[in-house]
Amino acid sequence: MQGIGFLLIIAVLASLALCANATTAKILIYSATADFRHDSIPTAIQALQSKGPSIDVQFDNTEDMNQFSDQILAQYDALLFLDNTGEVLDDAGKVAFQKYLDLGGNFVAIHAASDCLRNTTFYGHEVGAFFDYHPALQNATVDVIDSSHPSTSMLPAEWHVQDEMYNFKSDPRAIGAIVILSANESSYVDNGTHMDQGTPHPTAWFQERGAGVDSNGTAGRSFYTSLGHLNETWQDDLFLAHVLGGITWAL
Ligand SMILES: *[C@@H]1O[C@H](CO)[C@@H](O)[C@H](O)[C@H]1NC(C)=O
Ligand SMILES: *[C@@H]1O[C@H](CO)[C@@H](O)[C@H](O)[C@H]1NC(C)=O
Ligand SMILES: *[C@@H]1O[C@H](CO)[C@@H](O)[C@H](O)[C@H]1NC(C)=O
Ligand SMILES: *[C@@H]1O[C@H](CO)[C@@H](O)[C@H](O)[C@H]1NC(C)=O
Ligand SMILES: *[C@@H]1O[C@H](CO)[C@@H](O)[C@H](O)[C@H]1NC(C)=O
Ligand SMILES: *[C@@H]1O[C@H](CO)[C@@H](O)[C@H](O)[C@H]1NC(C)=O
Repeated sequence: MQGIGFLLIIAVLASLALCANATTAKILIYSATADFRHDSIPTAIQALQSKGPSIDVQFDNTEDMNQFSDQILAQYDALLFLDNTGEVLDDAGKVAFQKYLDLGGNFVAIHAASDCLRNTTFYGHEVGAFFDYHPALQNATVDVIDSSHPSTSMLPAEWHVQDEMYNFKSDPRAIGAIVILSANESSYVDNGTHMDQGTPHPTAWFQERGAGVDSNGTAGRSFYTSLGHLNETWQDDLFLAHVLGGITWAL
């Protein structure tokens, strides 16, 4: 009897392990660039892949635009655009991407990912706003304006970072995004003159319903953070906790 009970326990444990494995989420990191290329991209991919098991996510990565097909994208619980610049998808890829979003696909975008596909309206809506320009890399303070979000709950109210404080072509709040991190404009020097992103200065945000979806589609979630320029940033556990929080929320 004891032997059978033991075998039953083993069987239950084995099926639990199988279930846990079956629920591991899959995310495709897309880091293709057609313009400026960040040298921190490999560091970022390595950091995400090494942290993956801690949030039960398997991160695949590609720079091949031909991976944007219905069949391949359907395997993923979220797409993560990392530092993409320029025209990184062809027309067929854009159609597959739009369809992915219309079927409820989730989206995460990091740093320069707001600087690609600039003529693609649905992409601009899905990311929230297009990058405009940034002042020189420098130390700055970023204020948490919503600490209830999984991407900000671990951050100090005034977060000291060394990063690029992005300015955007439009205010992500205009398409329904909720801004959760805001650059403190008195904490750094920006000699630029046009700032069209509204106040408080948006630095990271989320969309419960990603606005890139077609009106007849089913929206998934969207998360964007403009931080993440340096290798050092991707070696900083606090920054990684911010990004991983955004990813788990998007799932
Ligand atoms: C960042 O790391 C990559 C290797 O992952 C390296 O090639 C690059 O030179 C590093 N950048 C700087 C500024 O040190
Ligand atoms: C995007 O639109 C601008 C302005 O209409 C145009 O000059 C540019 O060539 C377009 N870029 C692409 C990649 O289609
Ligand atoms: C801003 O302009 C001042 C005066 O021209 C210059 O000294 C400074 O280096 C500039 N700062 C940045 C971050 O571009
Ligand atoms: C900028 O911040 C980094 C840590 O993020 C620190 O090591 C460095 O000393 C700071 N630089 C200045 C000029 O305050
Ligand atoms: C913004 O930065 C300035 C200069 O570092 C500092 O005096 C001020 O307290 C900061 N404000 C907030 C809300 O973080
Ligand atoms: C949804 O609307 C778009 C135009 O916004 C159209 O191209 C597409 O075919 C429609 N899809 C369905 C399933 O009706």
